[in-house]
Amino acid sequence: MSEALPKRVRIVEVGPRDGLQNETQVIPTAVKLELIGLLAQAGLRNIEATAFVSPRWVPQMADHAELLGALHSGPHAETARYPVLTPNLRGYESARRAGAREVAVFAAASEAFSQKNINCSIAQSLQRFEPLMAAAQADGVAVRAYVSCAVGCPYSGPVAPAQVAALAAELKQMGCYEISLGDTIGVGTPGQIRQLLDAVAAQVPMACLAGHFHDTYGQAVANVYAALECGMTVFDASVAGLGGCPYAPGASGNVATEELVYLCQGLDIETGVDLQQLLAAGAYICAQLGRVNPSKLARAMATK
Ligand code: HMG
Ligand code: MG
Repeated sequence: MSEALPKRVRIVEVGPRDGLQNETQVIPTAVKLELIGLLAQAGLRNIEATAFVSPRWVPQMADHAELLGALHSGPHAETARYPVLTPNLRGYESARRAGAREVAVFAAASEAFSQKNINCSIAQSLQRFEPLMAAAQADGVAVRAYVSCAVGCPYSGPVAPAQVAALAAELKQMGCYEISLGDTIGVGTPGQIRQLLDAVAAQVPMACLAGHFHDTYGQAVANVYAALECGMTVFDASVAGLGGCPYAPGASGNVATEELVYLCQGLDIETGVDLQQLLAAGAYICAQLGRVNPSKLARAMATK
């Protein structure tokens, strides 16, 4: 059965951004740098480091410039990519001043979530991205995009796959090289993910799509598997399953990177990640946060 599955996947580690944006305590920059260093040592090559959003909205990411500057002069600068979230031109320009070589814009397939998260409509968000896309193109900076609420919205309920497909196609057409489909509140089940990918892949090639599955309802690994069967090869994941979104009440973290790597190992799918070193990175950040790693896999392996 695994013959039909991809031989290799690319993991985009989003723990330092999606994970730490959601913590009530503000994590010191030095701790973030240590975590990102451990993730890079474990073999992760795409690590979403921070967000150039308003510090009044998300104070946890206020050290974005200092953090990114340090990463670009750090030991993994040549091997790791450190994309950052940029909601508008202002964020893009700050990110560039701090040395960003790759950024990500984020839109939502739900009007209500767009308003709560970035204080504008979906159409206005696309207008905000236009000057950013032009600047990025001129600078040779790669732009990734997120479509949040790809399955459901915390404010307005289920979201139709056609709505997600239309927005993903628009973002691709604007020049984003990859569109990450965010099940922001983790309500999706494998059957829904298949329907979603059928709809979106009819408009955007599967090679330009990524899965960003939050694990709120315990479906994230199953959803990754469904997406693998559909031919998806890029997955966002968060060490120790950290995360959520400050504007999606009740949402919990992404699929734990540890669980994604373990799943792939069992299917002979290459990730380039050393599971033991990844577990060490998870143990480090959980100790800093004063909690036990919530990933079942991490708990099981800690007793070995
Ligand atoms: P706004 O208030 O509508 O913006 O915020 P504005 O243009 O009216 O400006 C208001 C103030 O913000 C001004 O400052 C601007 O200069 C400043 P003031 O004059 O009042 O002092 N400002 C900025 N400051 C820093 N960086 C910027 C920036 N832009 C304006 N880039 C804005 C609009 C988007 C900035 C705001 O709503 C915001 O920061 N929202 C945060 C959204 C966020 O970070 N959400 C979490 C990440 S998304 C997510 O987690 C989902 C994802 O994981 C996928 C999934 O799971 O679905 C990606
Ligand atoms: Mg997310």
